[in-house]
Amino acid sequence: MNVMTSPIATPALKDKGLEIALSDGASHYFNYFWLRDNCPSSFNANTRERSFDIFHLDAAPRAQTAEVVGDALEITWAGEEHVTRFPLDWLEAYKTPARRPDPADLPRKAWYGDHYPDVPRFSQPELLADPALRAKWIEAMLVEGFVILTDMPNSDAGITETAEMIGQVRPTFFGDYFDVKTHINPTNTAYTASALELHTDTPAEEHAPGVQFLHCRANTVEGGYSLYADGVAVANDFRLRDPEGFKVLSEVPVPFFCEHDTYDMRSRQTIIELDQHGEVSGLTISQHMLDISDLDQELLDSWYPAFCRFGKMLQEEKYMMTFLMKAGECMVFDNHRIVHGRAAYTAESGDRYLRGCYTDRAEMRSTYRALVSEGRFKK
Ligand SMILES: [Fe+2]
Repeated sequence: MNVMTSPIATPALKDKGLEIALSDGASHYFNYFWLRDNCPSSFNANTRERSFDIFHLDAAPRAQTAEVVGDALEITWAGEEHVTRFPLDWLEAYKTPARRPDPADLPRKAWYGDHYPDVPRFSQPELLADPALRAKWIEAMLVEGFVILTDMPNSDAGITETAEMIGQVRPTFFGDYFDVKTHINPTNTAYTASALELHTDTPAEEHAPGVQFLHCRANTVEGGYSLYADGVAVANDFRLRDPEGFKVLSEVPVPFFCEHDTYDMRSRQTIIELDQHGEVSGLTISQHMLDISDLDQELLDSWYPAFCRFGKMLQEEKYMMTFLMKAGECMVFDNHRIVHGRAAYTAESGDRYLRGCYTDRAEMRSTYRALVSEGRFKK
């Protein structure tokens, strides 16, 4: 039988929805509320938002009649003067429950300690000039989580203009940006010349910022090597090496804090973060901001050893990428995936000045989708 030319059976009207045979020959059920709410006329072409208000229907929507006319399903609604026309190929996309395909949902590629020569690099002025190159930059962020930008302008505004290519600058309780220099009265270990253990930033925020920018303006001190590791690489290997430890670190939220005279930020996060597919998507880790645990002390019998095994693994040479940042470079990395730290340096030996800021992961994905896909409303 030639399915393409066979007549499509009349939809069967049920109490709360209708059944219609689609291209696979099978019958598919669609709920009346869903059909009425998503009528193509429900959406305003200018705002690209739904303008139909389903709360104002007097009764639950119900089809008076439904038939296939040409390549569309036509529904005449009971109790209101309205006809809905759905192209059949549009309905096909919703015949089985599944998330809408997402161009930003890309498989991650783990990287290891020898990755530095292969880190994707982009020239900042070229990014500003070329949207296609910006898409490649964000793609590298989604897949690898770490890139280096070169040829940065030597200005305070340079990092802002760079971050705005991905999204709005996302303030934290430290403000719109932060400067990493040695401070006289430091409120944060980053502002000293001490070593800084591997961490993700501001874990005490309920939604810690997703993308971090670190613009190196000067780096002539002795020491001060940058340390980066891919949390996805380490956690994926930890999952194989220590399944029980992985389970506890990915399932048990633990408290983080950041407290000073005018703020008292608190959150609860799992150390290992999983995505919608159950894959490792990142970490939240910071020894200096891990709060005094209020968990059941017997749960800590398993949590703490797992945390220490994982923390030691993060520091293994296999995973640790070590390099010296150069003035004019900007490190851009996923703050929920890439752990970063710093070796101690000699404060008097020269200048070390970084300016940092953040944007959010969701906004980065949004920018990427807009750059690489047509979307549903573009003409
Ligand atoms: Fe940091």
